[in-house]
This record gives sequence, structure tokens and C-alpha cells, in this order.
Amino acid sequence: MPEFQIRPLRSSDFDRVLWLERDLFGSGAWTYGMLADELAGLGRWYIVATVDEPGTIGPDPVIGYAGLWFDGDDAQVMTIGVARNYQRSGVGRLLLDALIERARQLKAEAVLLEVRVDNEPALAMYRRFGFEVLAVRKRYYQPEDKDAYTMRLDLRTEPRTATDDGNAA
Ligand SMILES: CC(C)(COP(=O)(O)OP(=O)(O)OC[C@H]1O[C@@H](n2cnc3c(N)ncnc32)[C@H](O)[C@@H]1OP(=O)(O)O)[C@@H](O)C(=O)NCCC(=O)NCCS
Repeated sequence: MPEFQIRPLRSSDFDRVLWLERDLFGSGAWTYGMLADELAGLGRWYIVATVDEPGTIGPDPVIGYAGLWFDGDDAQVMTIGVARNYQRSGVGRLLLDALIERARQLKAEAVLLEVRVDNEPALAMYRRFGFEVLAVRKRYYQPEDKDAYTMRLDLRTEPRTATDDGNAA
């Protein structure tokens, strides 16, 4: 079983991430400019997943990526993707875990995201993490003209630690 690691996204990852974007999202993929603008935005946190497996695409091969935006109240999952040949290996879970952990550290109240209503793998993953559907956004995805669900994971209702309530021993 290959080993996966998470590290911050670097500018040298751009080509690979954009290749993955096009492969995973087709006509809806981010362009170089969109990615560069996004990374330069305030409150962004982008990571990649790499695989430690001989014979893969060169040294430090990137096989997944994800990003978060924190606006001071809530965190928003901006993107998440895993190379087709590594899907269903736990990489998406690793990436989403890291985003949620980051949101917790930032004291975000909730994690929000949009997902195409017909994206079964992503919906299954988000539900597994406890995200709930808030609303439908009609024709959110262009040019595909597809609806999105807005989903939310409430971080305030998560179990508190003993030190949170001041009753720690
Ligand atoms: C969604 C995506 C990121 C999941 O990544 P992944 O590495 O395959 O996910 P994991 O292997 O970590 O699986 C995590 C959980 O997601 C669910 N899941 C993932 N793929 C699934 C599939 N094809 N069918 C059903 N459930 C699926 C499962 O609950 C799984 O947990 P389990 O393996 O313990 O059952 C990946 O399918 C992807 O890159 N899709 C294309 C891009 C995309 O749609 N991104 C989301 C945009 S909102």
C-alpha cells in the first residue's frame, strides 16, 4: 500500500494541479490565472497530497489537492480533487481531514462547500464527514449548467474537550 503525505501547495505544483483540474473537471476547470488569483486571496490555505511510491510520476508526485478559504467566521472548501488512478484509496479523506482540522484551528464556526447534485462520490464523502445539505443553488456550475448543493459541517456542535468548559482536572 503506498504512503500518502500532505504538504502546502507550492508554485512549482501549478502545472500538475492544473493538469489534474482539467482531467477531473473538464470545461469547468480552473485556469492558471484563476488558480494564481485564488492563491493570492486573503485567508486561503492550499495543500497537496503526494505519494511515496517508486515508479510514479517523478519525485514528490502530486496526486491530489485541496483548498480552504476562511472569512473570519466560516471556512469554505474551495476545491478538492484526487488523480483518477488514486481515487478510492483514502486520499480525499486525508485532504478533507486536513482542511477540517485547519478550520478548527482557525476557530471557524462551520465548514461550507458547494457540490454538484449529481457528484455521487463527493456527496458520499461529505456525508461521511457529517456535512448536511443546506440548500440547492440552481445552475451554479457553468458552462455545464448544473445545480449545486450547499453543504455545511457545524464545528460548534462537535464534542468539547474537558478544558473547553473550564472544568478540567
Ligand atoms: C470526491 C473525491 C475527491 C474523493 O476522493 P477519494 O480519494 O476517491 O476519496 P476516498 O478514497 O478518501 O474516500 C472517502 C469516502 O468518500 C466516499 N466515496 C469516495 N468515492 C466514492 C465513490 N466512487 N462511490 C461512493 N462513495 C465514494 C466513501 O464514503 C469513502 O469512504 P470509504 O472509502 O471509507 O467508503 C474524488 O472522487 C475526486 O477527485 N473526484 C473528482 C473531483 C471532484 O468531484 N471533487 C469534488 C468537487 S465538490
